[in-house]
Amino acid sequence: VSTTVVVIGAGPAGMTLATLLQHSGVPCVVLERRSREHVAQRQRAGIVETRAVRMFDSWGLADRVLGGIPYDGILEIRVDGCSHLVSDRDGSDGPVARLCPQQVLVQKLTETFLEGGGDLRFEAADVSLHDLTGDRATVSYRTPDGTPHALACDFVAGCDGDRGVSRTAVPDGVLTAHAFDHGIGWLTVLADAPPPAHPLLATGPHGFAAHFPRGPHASRYYLQCPPDDTPDDWPEQRVWDTLRTRLGDPALGSGPITDREVFRLRSLVHDPMRHGRLFLVGDAAHIVSPMGGKGMNLALYDADLLARAVRDFVRDGDDTALDTYSARCLRRVWNDQEFSHWLTRTLHDAGDADPFLRHLALARLDRLFHSPAAARAFAELMTGLDPSGGA
Ligand code: APR
Repeated sequence: VSTTVVVIGAGPAGMTLATLLQHSGVPCVVLERRSREHVAQRQRAGIVETRAVRMFDSWGLADRVLGGIPYDGILEIRVDGCSHLVSDRDGSDGPVARLCPQQVLVQKLTETFLEGGGDLRFEAADVSLHDLTGDRATVSYRTPDGTPHALACDFVAGCDGDRGVSRTAVPDGVLTAHAFDHGIGWLTVLADAPPPAHPLLATGPHGFAAHFPRGPHASRYYLQCPPDDTPDDWPEQRVWDTLRTRLGDPALGSGPITDREVFRLRSLVHDPMRHGRLFLVGDAAHIVSPMGGKGMNLALYDADLLARAVRDFVRDGDDTALDTYSARCLRRVWNDQEFSHWLTRTLHDAGDADPFLRHLALARLDRLFHSPAAARAFAELMTGLDPSGGA
């Protein structure tokens, strides 16, 4: 059995790529380790940036695959209890960012792909990649009943996240990993509690906290914490008390907590994002710390670039875009890593850092709130339309 592209992983990266390939008439098969229900429920990112909305729009897919609610582009930053509004409106025409939870995007992409006759195989076990530098690659796997299968293909898209198998199929020494650990933990809490008017980031002497809408009656919260804390260190009452203190809102509404986990803020880039017939897409190639909401958007950017590159090759025999895929992706990856790092440092340093760093961070925020040029640069980075990122 053979196809043009085997896509490994059915998260935001894999399902975007598969849907765009299908739209381009390029045959592909998606292999996903987990069940459809599991993938459809996984909650993580929540903002599809302006550039990504316009990307789907340019494929005629925005209405079909984007759910959630329109976003007025306003972000609230509270410093020592004092509120400031910043906007991602950069004056350009066209559709704007959406508050679209990742699982809604993945569900809609999955429906679109399957309705279009797409070949999506859930619960594919023991996926392994072979002959990545040969004339054709092969991907083998087992169905849930243990039956072995093999798919020959021209290209493999590794969309299987940071802990997938694709990247491990690359021989040692080919990829360079650039890693950074901020030394910061975040407790993340999902609750059926009233969402804020705008996505809200807050910093102050008690540390960093954030509050994001996740639907009309649901919220996601983040609290800076020691990276080795566990969710058990954060009983419900402590979560709500700390949020009220750090957000500076004693009247903050609470509700049943549906999920809570602790993770370390880290950043990671693998370079190059290609080995022979294998192309790495999304988290398989890079992790960006969550501040700034760039992780999912970078995955959507990679997927768009790869879909167009494969289409050029299949349609016109032109491999230019395949050859430049890694460099073009990495340019944006580093641009967004820098934005995320800047925002992470600024909002944590403005909280409980040593006094010198705290004053530097407060000066950066003051500039953002009062300099139109700084606000404009921030908006450009938020939309993702910044020319320096290669949009
Ligand atoms: N075989 C098949 N599928 C696999 C394998 C494997 N060995 N390993 C992982 N997968 C699947 C996972 O089950 C998951 O559905 O690959 C998918 C990877 O999805 P994500 O981890 O969400 O990665 P990606 O699609 O790149 O997501 C991009 O969205 O919300 C953000 O944090 C997320 O920044 C990330 C971004």
